[in-house]
Amino acid sequence: MTNLQQSTHPVSVNILNNGSEIKLQWPDRASRYHAVWLRDNGQDQNTRNPANHQKLITIADIPEGVFVEHAIITDQNRLELGFGPDQWTTSIDIEWLYAHSYEDSYQERANTMFADNITTWNSGFVKNITRSNYDDVRTSPEALLEWLRAVDRYGVAILLGLPDKNAAVLDVIDLFGYIRETNYGQYFEIRSEINPINLAYTSIGLQSHTDNPYRDPVPGLQLFGCLENNTEGGESIVVDGFRIAETIRQENPRWFELLCTYNAQFEYCGSTGTHLQASRPMIECGPDGKIIHIRFNNRSCAALTEIPYDHMEEYYRAYRRFGDLANSNQLEVIFKLQPGQLFITDNTRVLHGRTGFSGPGNRWMQGAYADKDALKSKIRVLEQSLNLGIDANQVVKIY
Ligand code: FE2
Repeated sequence: MTNLQQSTHPVSVNILNNGSEIKLQWPDRASRYHAVWLRDNGQDQNTRNPANHQKLITIADIPEGVFVEHAIITDQNRLELGFGPDQWTTSIDIEWLYAHSYEDSYQERANTMFADNITTWNSGFVKNITRSNYDDVRTSPEALLEWLRAVDRYGVAILLGLPDKNAAVLDVIDLFGYIRETNYGQYFEIRSEINPINLAYTSIGLQSHTDNPYRDPVPGLQLFGCLENNTEGGESIVVDGFRIAETIRQENPRWFELLCTYNAQFEYCGSTGTHLQASRPMIECGPDGKIIHIRFNNRSCAALTEIPYDHMEEYYRAYRRFGDLANSNQLEVIFKLQPGQLFITDNTRVLHGRTGFSGPGNRWMQGAYADKDALKSKIRVLEQSLNLGIDANQVVKIY
C-alpha cells in the first residue's frame, strides 16, 4: 500500500476500453483500475456491512462482463460509479483509491526480497535490539506499540523488569495476543532434566534453530523469560534467518533455489502421545519471490526424502552453508538474560540458540508460544487508536 504524502485529489477520470477500466489522473501519477475490481470494492452498504466492514457480496454477484457506465468525481472527494449491465451504483473514497492503487505498486513490491516492514541484521545488532520495560509497555499504548513494531521489523526484542512470578511470560503474551498451547503445555520449563523429552531441557549448547518446524502451522512467536541464570555460559543467541537466506541468494542463487524449491522433512515423536510431522522448505518464498518463512532445526530434521536424487548432494551443500551462516560470528547476536528479562523471536524468521552452561548455579527459563497474526493486529489497532486519540482498549474488534 502506498502512503499518502500529499493532496491526492485527481484532476480527471477517464473511462477506457468500453468501460472495462478507468484511469484516474493524480497530481503525481496516473492509476488504472479494472471495472470488476471497482465493483468488488464498492463502498456502499450493499457491498460491505458498514458496522463490521465485512463484504456482503460474493464474486458470483458481480456480472461477467461488468463495465463502468459512468464515473464522476464528487465534491466530497468520492468517485461515483455506475455499472452495467445491471445498473449497479456505488462510490469509493478517492484517498482510499490512491492508497490502494495496484497498477505500479505490485511490481514495486515484487522487486524486493522482503515485505516493506522487514529490516535484516547481523551481529552488530546486539547494540540496537529494542529493550523496553515491562511496566512501560503494560501501561502505555505508545510504549507497547514501539515494542511490538520492533518485533515486527526485526523479529526480536527484549523486555526488562518482568514481575518475579511464575509464568510471567504468559502475562506478556496477554499484552498483544493469545497463548499458542502445544504438547509442551501453555508454557514450558527450560532447565536441565535427567531424561529430557527435548534436548533443550539439558545443559548442552544448542545450534541456532527455529522451533517446532514439525508443526503445521509453526508457532509464529516464541518468548523466553528468565528466572535464574547464574551458571557459567548459558548465553542466548539469535540469528536473523532472513539475513542468512539473503546471503545465500547473493552468494549462490542455485543453493537458494534448492532450499526454496524442495520440502525438507521435520518430525518430533519424543514424548508419549505425540507424533508430529511436517514437510516444508527450509526457506519459503511467496509467489512474488519474497522470503516469508525460515525453518531450520537440526534436532527435528527427519530423513530428507522429497529431493530428487540428482539434486541431493547439492542440496546438502546448500544446507551446510545455511548451517555455517547460522553459526557464524558475523551473524550471531549473543546476550545473557538476567532474571526478570525476556526476549521474543519471530519464529518464522529468527533462529535462537544458546551456549552450553555448567554449574555451580542454575539456568531456568520459561518459554511459551504465540502467533504473529494477533501481534500484527494489535499493531494496527494501536496505530489506529493512537491516531484517533481514543483508548486502544475501547477499539471494537473487527472479525
Ligand atoms: Fe528452541
